[in-house]
Amino acid sequence: MYLKSKVLTNEIEKKINNLLDKMTLEEKIGQLHQVGPSPVGAFDIPEAELKKMLETGRITQEEYELSKTDKILDKNEDKIRNGEIGSFLGLSDPKRINRLQRIAVEESRMGIPLLIGCDVIHGFNTVFPTPIAESCSFDDELFEQTASVAAKEARAAGINWVFAPMLDISRDARWGRIAESMGQDPFLAGNYAERKVRGFQGDDLSDNSKIAACAKHFLAYGACEGGKDYNTVDMSLSKLYDVYLPPFKRAVEAGIASIMTSFNDINGVPMTANKLLIKNVLHDELGFDGVVVSDATAVRELTVHGYSKDKYAAARDALCAGVDIDMNSYTYFDCLKELVEKGEVQIDNINEAVKSILRLKFALGLFDNPYCDFKKLNEVSCTNEHLALAKKAALHSTVLLKNNGVLPINKEKHKNISLIGELSDSISESYGCWTIYAKDEHTVTLKDALCKEGVQYTRCYGVKDELNEDEFKTATENADLIIAVLGESRHMSGEAHSYADISLPESQKSVVKRLKELGKPFICVLYNGRPLCVPEVDQSADAIVEAWQLGTKMGEALADIIFGRFNPCGKLTSNFPYKSGECPSYYNHPNTGRPAATDSDHWTCKYDDGRIKPIYSFGHGLSYTTFEYSELQIEKAESYLNVSVKITNSGNYDGYEVAQLYIHDKFASKVRPVRELKGYKKLYLRQGENKVVNFILPYSDLGFHNDKLEYVIEKGDFEIFVGTDSECELKSEFTL
Ligand code: NOJ
Repeated sequence: MYLKSKVLTNEIEKKINNLLDKMTLEEKIGQLHQVGPSPVGAFDIPEAELKKMLETGRITQEEYELSKTDKILDKNEDKIRNGEIGSFLGLSDPKRINRLQRIAVEESRMGIPLLIGCDVIHGFNTVFPTPIAESCSFDDELFEQTASVAAKEARAAGINWVFAPMLDISRDARWGRIAESMGQDPFLAGNYAERKVRGFQGDDLSDNSKIAACAKHFLAYGACEGGKDYNTVDMSLSKLYDVYLPPFKRAVEAGIASIMTSFNDINGVPMTANKLLIKNVLHDELGFDGVVVSDATAVRELTVHGYSKDKYAAARDALCAGVDIDMNSYTYFDCLKELVEKGEVQIDNINEAVKSILRLKFALGLFDNPYCDFKKLNEVSCTNEHLALAKKAALHSTVLLKNNGVLPINKEKHKNISLIGELSDSISESYGCWTIYAKDEHTVTLKDALCKEGVQYTRCYGVKDELNEDEFKTATENADLIIAVLGESRHMSGEAHSYADISLPESQKSVVKRLKELGKPFICVLYNGRPLCVPEVDQSADAIVEAWQLGTKMGEALADIIFGRFNPCGKLTSNFPYKSGECPSYYNHPNTGRPAATDSDHWTCKYDDGRIKPIYSFGHGLSYTTFEYSELQIEKAESYLNVSVKITNSGNYDGYEVAQLYIHDKFASKVRPVRELKGYKKLYLRQGENKVVNFILPYSDLGFHNDKLEYVIEKGDFEIFVGTDSECELKSEFTL
């Protein structure tokens, strides 16, 4: 737990109590009040959108005027002086941050420094692959290293708190925020959670290269009905415990300093007021001892849910459920004083929240030094080391979905290579969502990287506009190989970007058709924040490279892969369904009484107009070489199973492989998933080389939660599968 960290001593607890004794009620409430630069929270929004918010009553005339003129923050300087603000979000200008810290520390009565929270989701100045992309690396060390670099750069800018990692399991690719997640598997998510916390926080938050992390969104935000952002969630508690809670549990065990509640309701109770899940489960059961912050304006939205009858009830419901900080809804600020004075909220509730916020400020060392040395920012950010890591991350996150041998491109054979598609010619499209702090000068687009190697670029089409026939003719006439960049723009995934249809825009489908008709070999490179339904590309392209949004080093990494200087090794962490209507599509679904064996089966669990298998399933990802799995052996020890397998690189390239282990509990008192990932190992094998890989599978990993929420490990028969993806067939069995 983070409270056990060496920084938080009894001495500090005394200081906290001393401060608390001296604080007025207003000052205490101030600590619970977090303010952002715009009415929606962390980022500025266009004036037209502000106007709409004003018209629909979401913001007041005063908020509208202030946001328009960027005065919303200046107005807050007096409030900091009065001790009425405890934290900010969405600030990244180190000079401004230092100015605000100075006011808090030198001009307010209590001199309490500010928490400065920020959405540093996949890098700060150096941009790493989006989380969905990075998860495909199956590389625990990388998860930690990229978080560590992000922490270093952000802290140098005066930010001391990141709203990451996002730990929402997402099984529905219609949900735009799948881009920010690590996909659909709780086992992988658990490792990801632990490594991210370590990377951001290290062992000592006062180290000025470390930062407080915030696991979000608690809980089951990714299970929003129909993949529609902010939507309701209705699910059994046992499923919640087996699938959605595990990454948060691992984050808590790793010492996460804070947790953000989610926008959704679960079984009728909005998470912002969900006492059962915040107090009983998160604090009491998991032992979380850090700060709980609401999501942006979510406290005020409790009234919109129809849960709290007015803003006073909303403030009371959220605080009493255990939400310490109100993010940007001004509801605690407006209501808590009156609620305490009327006896509707106990001062103890407020004191507890203030204490946990002060602990975090002490743990971060802010009372000793609240300022950043922004002159050093340039030395710290986008260093060669950081850029090299960005390149490594981009290389390892790319997934080769299909290849009939055209990749890697043989420059001797293909002398006239043509690149088409506007996405390849944009720096910001290389980044994906949440990258407002990126430093563009280090970014090379795919277009620039390939043109350097003699490839000809012609725009031909954008994301949604029609094909320019003249340009298409020029681009393809003399080409002997075409690289077509297809997919989504960065604004088609991320928050509030859910789509009912996740296939390619019609105009891009027709580009694929035209390329097919042309009869020349073509490679498709996909830019996207979510799994897409791309059957037409799968049927027509000679190779498909899933490039996601890989960050600062996107172009260079893809060029290395395309020309064979790096052998791709990424594996999908989400299914790619055939049709949008097949969502949610996840490999680890429970069995039914009528599973379908073929697409034409009748009276089985399937769509008449769909496919029983996704186009690409979880764990899928090709290499330029081939790996053979053999000699699967299982040995039972007292508390674990030792599973070993021999892996041979049987192809013509050296390369990495991610070996995956799945289980299937054949009979249980609760229907079990058809397969569940329980181990993975990433290894490097030279051509012809083989290695025996060992997996330790603790029996304690074989259980599940029953309806009484007891974790049970039932005796019986299990199947073990080991191989290159979730459909691997090499199998053995054992009885527990
Ligand atoms: C809303 C998002 O849901 C959350 O992830 C983010 O951290 C906050 N806004 C602050 O920007």
